[in-house]
Amino acid sequence: MAREIIASVRGMRTIWGEEAQRLETLLGLIRQLLQQSAYGPISLPLLEKTSLFQRAVGEETDVVSKEMYTFLDRNEESVTLRPEATAGVVRALIENGLLQQPHRLYSEGPMFRYEKPQKGRYRQFYQVSVEAFGSAAPALDAELIQLGHRLFQKLGVLDLLTLEINSIGLAEERQRFQAALVDYLRRQADALDPDSRRRLDSNPLRILDSKEATTQALLDDAPVLDDYLGVASRTHFQRLCQTLDELGISYRRNPRLVRGLDYYNHTVFEWTTQALGAQGTVCAGGRYDGLVEQLGGPATPASGFAFGVDRIYLLAEQVGFFPAPAPLLYALASREDYLPRLLATAARLREALPALRVQVQTEVQALKKQLQKADKSGARYALILGDDEFQSEHISIKNLQTGQQQTLTPEGLVSFLQEDL
Ligand code: HAM
Repeated sequence: MAREIIASVRGMRTIWGEEAQRLETLLGLIRQLLQQSAYGPISLPLLEKTSLFQRAVGEETDVVSKEMYTFLDRNEESVTLRPEATAGVVRALIENGLLQQPHRLYSEGPMFRYEKPQKGRYRQFYQVSVEAFGSAAPALDAELIQLGHRLFQKLGVLDLLTLEINSIGLAEERQRFQAALVDYLRRQADALDPDSRRRLDSNPLRILDSKEATTQALLDDAPVLDDYLGVASRTHFQRLCQTLDELGISYRRNPRLVRGLDYYNHTVFEWTTQALGAQGTVCAGGRYDGLVEQLGGPATPASGFAFGVDRIYLLAEQVGFFPAPAPLLYALASREDYLPRLLATAARLREALPALRVQVQTEVQALKKQLQKADKSGARYALILGDDEFQSEHISIKNLQTGQQQTLTPEGLVSFLQEDL
């Protein structure tokens, strides 16, 4: 009886073939840029105690209140598949007593959020989260922005992106602003969209980035966060803007940018694009000076952001960034006992020509059949070890595009490929 096929879970993708290859290329580039700036990897568990995200990200945020994969483990402890990495990095540094010195770290891998899946929005998605601890300087925020800028420049997608920045000041400043905003909006509650009306009680600052036109129109005359910032907050932000100006990094001040996670203060930023439809934010972050203390550690200034790798991939693909994969050579033999020599030849080629991919056909069949397989594989060359070649210690190479074939010594083969590739 045929068994029913078990499908994947909604919003969780299997990535394979060319896309998987290209993602590796993208991740390689990101890691290289980070390591050049002295950021080092940290590997975190996917599962954390639920209370970590409740305390770090905030109970009233959409992420914590609606989107987490939370369940009881076999010991009845509430655990959560991480929706983001910053909380875990901070937890790890505190738990291991590592906060006496500055750290620059990146943490990559899948994150989980129960959102409505669509293009560029998945329930399992991939972030490279970049975190720096121990400096309160606006120059650190600029360095983090510079990292994104450099990646986007290298990918050739900078023209498609806008860097939006804002200062959300200190918690006390935000509280005073929030009180004024709620006061203003309550008087017009009838004109607010239902989502924003609910947020009046739970998370009023998020009303600022409502997409509803009527709500946006109301906000035009609402109190402005900027008016509530103190001297220190303003100075921090001005210095950040000056630094970005000097670096030639253009940005747009968005006074309504507030972010969806509660741990930020001072600088917040997002890289956004119109090129991906609704899911336009490809990279986002900000400063989070209070988080280490909030999670029980010593007062430590910190700043960071995350690359949304799935979305950056889509952009890079759109502009044709990814180079063609390295040419493939398909090696085959006419008899099973020729395979050891074929494997040795393949190893030599890989060593001499790192830009070549060499695939060895280990299932020996009639040569004609194997050559058909070589053609189908998309290989540029077939390497053939038949009886004549085996006896004379030569090897034949066939260009599968032109059909040209020649028989060479092992050394001759390397020099031929060196020239032909
Ligand atoms: P976030 O804004 O929640 O920030 O996520 C960062 C990026 O992850 C987003 O800009 C987006 O590109 C990507 N992303 C988020 N949700 C999804 C999804 N469902 N599908 C595909 N991509 C998604 C954070 O997570 C912070 N931890 C960033 C940070 C690090 N702040 C300081 N340090």
